[in-house]
Amino acid sequence: MSRKNLNIGLFGFGCVGLGLYEVLQKTPALKATISIICVKDKNKKRAIGKENFTFDKNDILNDESINVVVELIDDADAAFEIVSAALKKGKAVVSANKKMIAEHFTELLELQKEYNVPLLYEAACCASMPIIRNLEEYYDNDLLESIEGIVNGSTNYILTKTFSENLSYDEALLQAQEKGFAESNPILDTGGFDAKYKLLILLAHSFGYVAKPKDIFNIGIDNIGELEFKYAKEKNLKIKLVAQAFKGEEGNISAFVIPKFVTPDDRLYNVDDVFNGIITKTSFADTHFFVGRGAGSLPTASAVLSDISALSYDYRYEY
Ligand code: HSE
Repeated sequence: MSRKNLNIGLFGFGCVGLGLYEVLQKTPALKATISIICVKDKNKKRAIGKENFTFDKNDILNDESINVVVELIDDADAAFEIVSAALKKGKAVVSANKKMIAEHFTELLELQKEYNVPLLYEAACCASMPIIRNLEEYYDNDLLESIEGIVNGSTNYILTKTFSENLSYDEALLQAQEKGFAESNPILDTGGFDAKYKLLILLAHSFGYVAKPKDIFNIGIDNIGELEFKYAKEKNLKIKLVAQAFKGEEGNISAFVIPKFVTPDDRLYNVDDVFNGIITKTSFADTHFFVGRGAGSLPTASAVLSDISALSYDYRYEY
C-alpha cells in the first residue's frame, strides 16, 4: 500500500501532545513529521526546543505544506474553531476532543462532506482502546443491539483507589490529576459529563444515532456515599460508572451514564484502575469485550498515532 507523507501542524502541547511527540520519535517508519506546534501559554517551559512553536493559529492554518492538523487542546469552543477552519482549508484533522465532537457532531460531519476531508478521533473515546475503528468496520452488517462500558479512566481510577485501597476521594482525585488522567476541570470526569460525550460518539458510530449532550442523563460518582460502598463490600460487589446504550424493538435508543453495582461475574468487575472496558452485543456474534487504558499520555497518543497512520492511506469514517 502506498502511503502519503504527512506534514503535521499540532495544536496543544500538554500531556497528550508531548506523548504524541515522543511516540512519533519512536515510529520513524511512519512518514509523519510535526513541523509546527501552536500553543497558548508563551511563558510555559517546554520539553523541546522553542524553534517549532508558534502562538498564532494561522501559522498552521495558512501553511499550505501542512496536510494534517492534530488538535489536542483543552477548550472545546476554540477546538471547534480550529478544526472547522482546518477542514475548510482541505486539511485532514485528528482530534482527541470528545466534548467538541459530541457538541458539534452534525456540523463536523457536514464539513467533512462539503470539503471532502476526513476527521478522525479515536483518541476521543476510551484513549488507547480502538473502539471507533471497530464500530466503523466490524459491525457493518452484524448490527449492534447494545453497548455498555466503563469509558472514563479517572472515575474508574478514583473508584478503584477509594474502594479497594481505602484512599480518600480527594487523594484519589489528586492522583488522577497528577497522572494526567483527569480533565483540567475534573467535574467533567466526576460528574459523568466526559463519559456522556464519549457515549454520544459511540451512539453515532454504533447506531447512527446523533444526539446532543442535553438529550442524555449523566449521573456521576460525586454522590456515591458510605452506605453504597458499605453495601457493595458486604455483597462482594463493585461500583462502576457505566455508560450504556441499547436499541429497543421499535428501533428506539435508550442511553445514559450512571454508577452501577456490578457482580463478580460481570466482565466490567475486573476493569479497574485507569482501564476502560466495553461490551458490545450484536445479532450474530453474541458479545465482544474490549479493554484498554482509558487515559494517560502515551495510551492516548497511541490512538492519535493510529489515526495519523490511517490518514497516510486516506482512511475515513463511513458513518
Ligand atoms: N479525563 C478522561 C478520562 C481522559 O479520565 O477518561 C481520557 O479521555
